[in-house]
Amino acid sequence: MLNIAVFVSGGGTNLQAIIDAIEDGRITNTTIKAVISDKEDAYALIRAKNHNILGKVINPKTYSGQEEYSHTLLKELEELEVQFIVLAGYLKIIPEQVVQAFNNRIINIHPSLIPAFCGDGFYGLKVHEEVLNRGVKITGATVHFVDNGTDTGPIILQKAVEVHDDDTKESLQKRVMEEAEWSILPRAIHMIANDQIEFRGFKVIKKG
Ligand code: GRF
Repeated sequence: MLNIAVFVSGGGTNLQAIIDAIEDGRITNTTIKAVISDKEDAYALIRAKNHNILGKVINPKTYSGQEEYSHTLLKELEELEVQFIVLAGYLKIIPEQVVQAFNNRIINIHPSLIPAFCGDGFYGLKVHEEVLNRGVKITGATVHFVDNGTDTGPIILQKAVEVHDDDTKESLQKRVMEEAEWSILPRAIHMIANDQIEFRGFKVIKKG
């Protein structure tokens, strides 16, 4: 059984996709031990409560510094017996100490086809705004391992989504979430929980 914690900051539609996939069997061998948010008012915490999943607010701003924040986070994760972290719309940087402690055990969903439209400043609607400004015809979403960079870790899954000529950043965000994010994040968790991927150097491949 893979014990995961899902980190959220906002609406939690990706969290909902994970919860639904566990409940309908698309994700097996996985338990959400806690949903952790940096924001007290994140609707994602309501979604967790609706499914009797423990929700916790751990706001980095309430700690004196990275050291105390990291220590608290690691202690909480240990007490919850969390083995794997899923960042699902989480907008804070994970401290280096936590990334080291959870080496190759943290994944993130990013709303573009990395390495395009990613890195510092590229999150939420901003990503889709830049996609439209650049005039690309295909965008999508990426699930990747988290390292100490921003959106730089090994790629696990990607899914392409067509850009429509009449798209707004809002309509494009909605389609990327519906057609890509909400399917590849649950699929990645299922693959990891069932030992279906391995590393070949920096690359992540599906076991034969
Ligand atoms: C989504 O666009 C996701 O790609 C990004 O955060 C946004 C909000 O996601 N990481 P959610 O509805 O809170 O899951």
